[in-house]
Amino acid sequence: MRLFFALWPPAEAARALWEWASAVRKQSGGRTTAEETIHLTLAFLGEADAAKAAAAARRVRGTAFSLPMDASQHWRHNRIVWAGPKTMPGPLKQLAENLLGELQLEQFALEEREFAAHVTLIRKAGPPEFLPGLPAIEWPVREFVLVRSIPAQGGSRYEVIERFPMT
Ligand code: 2AM
Repeated sequence: MRLFFALWPPAEAARALWEWASAVRKQSGGRTTAEETIHLTLAFLGEADAAKAAAAARRVRGTAFSLPMDASQHWRHNRIVWAGPKTMPGPLKQLAENLLGELQLEQFALEEREFAAHVTLIRKAGPPEFLPGLPAIEWPVREFVLVRSIPAQGGSRYEVIERFPMT
């Protein structure tokens, strides 16, 4: 199974992000992430054993926090437009690090790249002339999820396998 860990936004946050992305796409072109699949990836596992991944995640003690969505950018290297926190929230950094540590204990070989918190909103995007300001977005984080990515036409389909509450 192709797996990753992620934070999933509440429906209203996903709606607001999708509406913003739809406006940006008029300039940038490309394909907006479907509203119901908008997420922030914590760790990408690729083909992996779900039971082992879940066992690692159950040992992670995360602290609940509110995720600011106050930055947006177009990245040329992979042609995406993303939104995310301007500065990394402490509890998010800790969550990503703890999760990575537990996954390494389960012998997962993960990318060495530093964790960059971003929510991909448009793929195959050209550089937009300007990015409009983001709307106010409430994204309380009280759990993270293990997700299965299923290749589908026009983007992947995602299925939440297990939820891991934070306190
Ligand atoms: P992206 O949004 O920046 O493309 C599911 O594919 C999620 O895992 C996406 O959010 C994707 O990030 C992330 N991801 C990280 N590394 C990946 C990789 N090597 N291949 C595919 N997706 C990856």
